[in-house]
Amino acid sequence: MEITAAVVKEKGSDFKLEKVRLDKPASEEVLVKIVATGICHTDMVARDFVMGAPGFPVILGHEGAGIIESVGEDVHHLKAGDHVVLTYGFCGECEVCRTGNSPYCYEFFQRNFSGARVDGSHNHHDHDGKPINHNFFSQSSFATYAIAHKNNVIQVPNEAPLEILGPLGCGIQTGAGAVINTLKIKVGSSIVISGTGAVGLAAVMAAKASSATTIIAVDINQQRLDFSKELGATHTINSLNENVVERIKAILPNGVQYGVDTTGRNDVINNTLASFAPVGELAVIGVATRPMELETNIFLTKGYKIKFVNQGDSVPQEFIPKLIKMYQNGQFPFNKLIKTYPFEEINQAVEDSEKGRTIKSVLRIGEYNA
Ligand SMILES: NC(=O)c1ccc[n+]([C@@H]2O[C@H](COP(=O)([O-])OP(=O)(O)OC[C@H]3O[C@@H](n4cnc5c(N)ncnc54)[C@H](O)[C@@H]3O)[C@@H](O)[C@H]2O)c1
Ligand SMILES: [Zn+2]
Ligand SMILES: [Zn+2]
Repeated sequence: MEITAAVVKEKGSDFKLEKVRLDKPASEEVLVKIVATGICHTDMVARDFVMGAPGFPVILGHEGAGIIESVGEDVHHLKAGDHVVLTYGFCGECEVCRTGNSPYCYEFFQRNFSGARVDGSHNHHDHDGKPINHNFFSQSSFATYAIAHKNNVIQVPNEAPLEILGPLGCGIQTGAGAVINTLKIKVGSSIVISGTGAVGLAAVMAAKASSATTIIAVDINQQRLDFSKELGATHTINSLNENVVERIKAILPNGVQYGVDTTGRNDVINNTLASFAPVGELAVIGVATRPMELETNIFLTKGYKIKFVNQGDSVPQEFIPKLIKMYQNGQFPFNKLIKTYPFEEINQAVEDSEKGRTIKSVLRIGEYNA
């Protein structure tokens, strides 16, 4: 069939909407009519070939939500018409997946970043028959239709608003999961969250929903810091003009118990560690552009734990429906982060995300009757 997809032709270039040929889904695949797709910082990282880049030309997009059009013959738990959110790819069969750690699947690279199916074949081609890299996060959902694997297609309730659910598949589950699944923060605890983009603000909302009583947001964007207070931050620190460690020690003389880093910056991570109470625990989420250096000799006697976290340690079949229920109960208002754009305005939506004007851009792609 012919679809319209946003293609990145070369490193760092704009997204171009083009007609692309899409094959039928293979036996374990699912064809999804995309209703909306979120834009995540990781799409830009791949566009710029920093990390996890499949090569070019490529179709990115990994926060898709839509309606199943058809399923391959070995897909039995999903059917045409189901409302779904697409998440990251994993095999579901290796020992890591089987023990509830699917974000660290042995095949994570092949299923999310290789630009092709695991067997190396392609299901997207241009009109000359040349393959286009695809299968980004087992979906490539900057397109009117996407093909996903049965494992990364998560059924959601029909009454949930499909046009905003896509970001649950990556950015939102990442931030919320770091708090709920990784750190499992305790009621009445304290946490510092560095970076208040979509991932950091999802962490702020999850900390509030988990009854943390001190939630400190750190950023260099004052508007985002102000907004974080609406979502549950009890204190904000603008690190452009305030000393983070001194401020945290003034708020919590014994130090802060938990940290989430979404900046990937060495100085920010060291500030968090220097602000910790003994046995503090840090979840590192942000993609870094350089290797990290840590004051290990100072931290050795403190018993700190650092965990590098992919996808909020989420088992998506279980965690995404949970987040939807929290949203429906008013405990997780992630809709407040979202601004929608027509698919044709993808480059504007990307620019607004990169400039910090929009927290979570979502592209409206196909129609559906709510
Ligand atoms: N590990 C994962 O599974 C996973 C999943 C999704 C996203 N990510 C990564 O998480 C990161 C955050 O994603 P996002 O969509 O929220 O991005 P974002 O760019 O919207 O947010 C990052 C925030 O960090 C702030 N920041 C920059 N420099 C800072 C500094 N020196 N001190 C404090 N704050 C600073 C920015 O102002 C911004 O608000 C990205 O690196 C993204 O690639 C990781
Ligand atoms: Zn696996
Ligand atoms: Zn992402």
